[in-house]
Amino acid sequence: GKGNIGVYGLGVMGRNLALNLEEHGYRVSLYNRTVPGKEEDIVSSFLEEEGKNKDFVGTESPEAFIGSLKPPRKVLLMVKAGDAVDKVIDQLTPLLSPGDILIDGGNSHFKDTVRRVQKLQEMEIHFVGMGVSGGETGARRGPSLMPGGSKTAWKSLKPILQNIAATDPEGKPCCTWIGTEGAGHFVKMVHNGIEYADMQLIAECYHFMREVLEMPIREIGTVFESWNSGELNSYLLEITSKILKVTDDKGEPLVEKILDSAGQKGTGLWTSVSALESGTPLPTITSAVFSRVFSSFKGLRINLSQKLGEPSQQPLDSGEASRFVTALEKALIAGRVITLAEGFFFIKQLSEEKNWNIDLAEVARVWQNGCIIRSELLIPVRKALQAEINSSHLLKTELFSMKLLDLIPELRNVASTAIQYGVPVPAMSNVLAQYDMLRSEKLPANLIQAQRDFFGAHTYERVDRPRGEYFHTDWSNANDKT
Ligand code: 6PG
Repeated sequence: GKGNIGVYGLGVMGRNLALNLEEHGYRVSLYNRTVPGKEEDIVSSFLEEEGKNKDFVGTESPEAFIGSLKPPRKVLLMVKAGDAVDKVIDQLTPLLSPGDILIDGGNSHFKDTVRRVQKLQEMEIHFVGMGVSGGETGARRGPSLMPGGSKTAWKSLKPILQNIAATDPEGKPCCTWIGTEGAGHFVKMVHNGIEYADMQLIAECYHFMREVLEMPIREIGTVFESWNSGELNSYLLEITSKILKVTDDKGEPLVEKILDSAGQKGTGLWTSVSALESGTPLPTITSAVFSRVFSSFKGLRINLSQKLGEPSQQPLDSGEASRFVTALEKALIAGRVITLAEGFFFIKQLSEEKNWNIDLAEVARVWQNGCIIRSELLIPVRKALQAEINSSHLLKTELFSMKLLDLIPELRNVASTAIQYGVPVPAMSNVLAQYDMLRSEKLPANLIQAQRDFFGAHTYERVDRPRGEYFHTDWSNANDKT
């Protein structure tokens, strides 16, 4: 018989999603472009190994691949984001018929997805840009799925995608229709931004315990492990505590042997760029992107560390150190809450700008399992967003505004100590600065406006006059009058 769904691209994510689909009772057609200069046929070797004795249909050409599918055809593209996606679309569209569905499961930029949905619509092909999170294990055992694009496709995709997705704590699938155009890939992009920030916040806690509290690495791992059994329970904390316990062949912590220069594939950067373009503050996520960038200038850092030295501080005594461990835990909760607030606010803003009607509470729900940022905290976050019907800002919700009152003093304590010790905590500092800006009725932007008006006659509004009335002062001559 013919295949129920096709998977184009058998990289790590593609092959694991294919196995997941097959395990759920679907006959899966497979195709992988032949790699020039490489003899090995990826489809055949997959069928001889992991795919052996399973319900797969291996194909050797795009024509055979498309021909092997039951109409209306469903094709999941798992190719590298960027030009490759357009190339594959151009290759497949002449072979497809009106009503067929193309799903892009890669980390594509949402603007590319908007363009592709529109282009394929003209050919009556339904294009879906789907965020897939959870890495290799997620793809195989249950990812978090964020589809968006051509809504017509959703009816026939829903049963399949919800079948293979992870389930939330209530047993519902971590897969929901996000919205039209690029909404799915946009939400996945913000997920990755939050991922960057959460990783950075955890890394700053580790750095604080190592540099300020001078704790052994293994012990830091034990602290993370204990945090992970509480409110901070999350995938990223779980893997971090495991990482910190792994030793190399000399019995020393492996993590300390890893070059401290972080890479990135681009989704974090895109999140920051998009937020800047839309005029939405995204300081924590952006500080996490910049932190990776700073880390990559290893040579410059070595050079400047010799030139500039560091502030001298006494190590803390053990009583103080243990109090700081408790403070750090609260600081991390505050950081995570404010990062989520920042991320959801951005989703809300862009969703309004694009008319995507993204249901924030549903996004919080599909992130509760399967994805990299899954955490216990997303349960109350979802409740808060639901209760205050997609509140414009998480910090406006009763639950989180009250919660932060207790956490912020600890964050201040940690951040200011880190600053005194010269230990950089950019994510924590930005969490705090953001919190302080949001809760400040008064900011010094009046002075900024005066400066703008001074040198550029940009005009200003007044606090004692209605909004929309603009004033200009001849600042250089104003003094002469007094
Ligand atoms: C996920 C991850 C996944 C991947 C990204 C980010 O949700 O499963 O976000 O998509 O890890 O490629 O990687 P970088 O850190 O390289 O940007």
